[in-house]
Amino acid sequence: MIVSGRLNEITRRFLRAQYCSYAKMTSLLVPPESVRGMTRLDRDAFTKTVELPYLRFHDIKPSEILPIMKKYLFKSRRFKPVQNADDKTVIYLDPNLITSLDDLGASIKKQLLEMYEQFEEFGTAKVTLTYDNWQPHDMLRAILPEEIEVPTSFSLIGHIVHLNLRDAHLPYKNIIGEVYLDTVPSARTVVNKTNAIDTTFRNFTMEILAGDKDTVTTVKEHGFTYELDFSQVYWNTRLSTEHHNLVMLMKPKDVLYDVFAGIGPFAVPAARKGVKVFANDLNPESYKWLQRNMIINKVKNNVKCFNMDGREFLTTVFKDDLLNRRANNEIGTEHIVMNLPAVAVDFLDVFFESFNRDEIKRICLRSPIVHLYCFVKANKGQDACKLGQELVERKLGSMLNSDCLFELRHVRNVSTSVEMIRVSFRLHENILKGEEPAMKKLKVDNNFDVIVRDNVPENDGQEEEYAEKTAEQECVQSSESS
Ligand SMILES: C[S@@+](CC[C@H](N)C(=O)[O-])C[C@H]1O[C@@H](n2cnc3c(N)ncnc32)[C@H](O)[C@@H]1O
Repeated sequence: MIVSGRLNEITRRFLRAQYCSYAKMTSLLVPPESVRGMTRLDRDAFTKTVELPYLRFHDIKPSEILPIMKKYLFKSRRFKPVQNADDKTVIYLDPNLITSLDDLGASIKKQLLEMYEQFEEFGTAKVTLTYDNWQPHDMLRAILPEEIEVPTSFSLIGHIVHLNLRDAHLPYKNIIGEVYLDTVPSARTVVNKTNAIDTTFRNFTMEILAGDKDTVTTVKEHGFTYELDFSQVYWNTRLSTEHHNLVMLMKPKDVLYDVFAGIGPFAVPAARKGVKVFANDLNPESYKWLQRNMIINKVKNNVKCFNMDGREFLTTVFKDDLLNRRANNEIGTEHIVMNLPAVAVDFLDVFFESFNRDEIKRICLRSPIVHLYCFVKANKGQDACKLGQELVERKLGSMLNSDCLFELRHVRNVSTSVEMIRVSFRLHENILKGEEPAMKKLKVDNNFDVIVRDNVPENDGQEEEYAEKTAEQECVQSSESS
């Protein structure tokens, strides 16, 4: 029970607090206006004194008060919102949320009342924030002209921060790079994709904006380790779930023919599972890292690596091994993975041109499964998976009926209207026989996939799209916390 003297004292403290108002606090919580337009990073120019609301207690354990105040704390980089000195504890609050004690709400006020003995004061204090305390978004927002969007979306590939800057950012590219280098934990290099891209190997040219000129890095995916030179090969962190999902479909004794294997994110986990792997990539650099990653992950014995065109790989390595397997009555399912979404559909004719009638009969005793990736342009309300299926059907010249279609999967959103889809289907007799020759059909009806490909960003998903602000913040936060 609170005695009336205490109540009066608390009321007085509360009334005093009512006068602490921070109507303009939000605008105070940005770096100094003088940094606007800066093109060479001057870290000292970010020092600024701001006024923060605080609560002061004595003889209190942070564990007693923190759960109550958690959502109101002033959170900033390298700033401790709970500070202890002697027997005093000061808790700095977010001025965007708290301008007076009333903002804490009745329930918290009641709990503070119950802490009468320890609660001393609610007030404001001048606090000096430096370059180290500002969030990267706040710094870039303050530097860039107001009409230019802040580039906050990035991907982290080992020690490399990969940005995809727009033309408007280019005058500020080095400063943007330095801010990222300083604020992303574990970053040693910041790169920006430049316009020129190598359409064959799906890697892109990049420029180093800040940090070490070292693009050889190590990434982890689902417990496996991959080494790669990010300037020479394809790597996309957004395919991590798909790599896992696809390998989950395979069983020991199955066989994987990875036509566009990159540095091995399907091949390595499949081989570890006991799947026999044939992994191919045309890019000599991918081939080099592919072999290296088999050694690092100790799966070398289950994998054979090839450095040839996908078409040649399918008509030689795949065909020979498949026919051998049928001749020897080997068990297990064959999986042909074709992850080159912009053009993989153009390789499908290989299947209806490679086998004679007798071979087809043997192959179809147990049909292999093709996992084909494609891009489709889907307008609002359209079923992107269905569009992917239709694209494959047009290229094959055959319908994928229910016993032929194995799985349709939406892999990822590439840009506003472009989706990446996996169409998994069994190589049934009608497909291998090419009963409705696909190329003939395409001559009269070839608009669909042309439209799709025209709308697909040239860099084949290496690009990092500009995400919505919330997604961008999540990216920054998760990278910071990892
Ligand atoms: C989109 S990447 C996919 C790599 C890997 N499967 C992954 O998920 O990260 C496509 C790969 O196909 C390779 N490539 C491009 N054209 C090729 C071709 N004609 N034959 C074989 N590989 C090719 C590229 O070098 C690249 O590594």
